[in-house]
Amino acid sequence: MKPIRIAIDGPASSGKSTVAKIIAKDLDLTYLDTGAMYRACALVALQKETVDTTVITEFIHKNPLKFGQGRVFLGLNDITKIIRSNDVTAKVSEVAAMPEIRDLMTAEQRRIAKDGNIIMDGRDIGTVVLPDAELKIFLVADVAERAERRYKENLEKGIPSDLDALRKDIAARDKYDSERQVAPLKKATDAIEVDTTGLPIEEVVSIIEKHIQAIELK
Ligand code: DC
Repeated sequence: MKPIRIAIDGPASSGKSTVAKIIAKDLDLTYLDTGAMYRACALVALQKETVDTTVITEFIHKNPLKFGQGRVFLGLNDITKIIRSNDVTAKVSEVAAMPEIRDLMTAEQRRIAKDGNIIMDGRDIGTVVLPDAELKIFLVADVAERAERRYKENLEKGIPSDLDALRKDIAARDKYDSERQVAPLKKATDAIEVDTTGLPIEEVVSIIEKHIQAIELK
């Protein structure tokens, strides 16, 4: 297989991380959840009680983000679970809109992607982080269905949830992420849009894997 870089972008809870993880396993690719990186920055902002980007970026320089076996570490701390908390979710769009935070995360994401054979999910992978990725997918889904998916995921993870509040939160986060000045959530002109509303995960995976095979055969 030729080294390949796959960008999976789309709004909150459109199924990006679920399908990206399955494809990474099927095809032996590195998986990078870039949302987790912004969530880690939001966690630092909450813990330090500041949105001063110098404080946040210096903390991350001293306590680098690491990924392994499905876990996320900030320095020596395993932050896998806490970055999914409601507090972090409520803070993350604000922190992810800050140019200094995005510069640091984008540089780190490009460093991780430099050898290829990677699938990354986020909002700006196809537009900003890897504009020359071999394959760009933009996943979309109806907001009510996305809220239900997140609701089920939260229950499974033991995170308290309210379906109506989730629907509003997802819509608000999409609006904020799409309207920010720097690297907004946007479909790259050369991305393939896949609407996952009503589609089982296996079918979404199969659609994307067919696109990957087509690239491999070129
Ligand atoms: O995918 P997620 O819900 O874990 O992402 C958390 C937040 O991070 C989301 O509100 C938008 C932001 N984000 C971003 O701005 N750019 C990315 N590449 C990934 C996530």
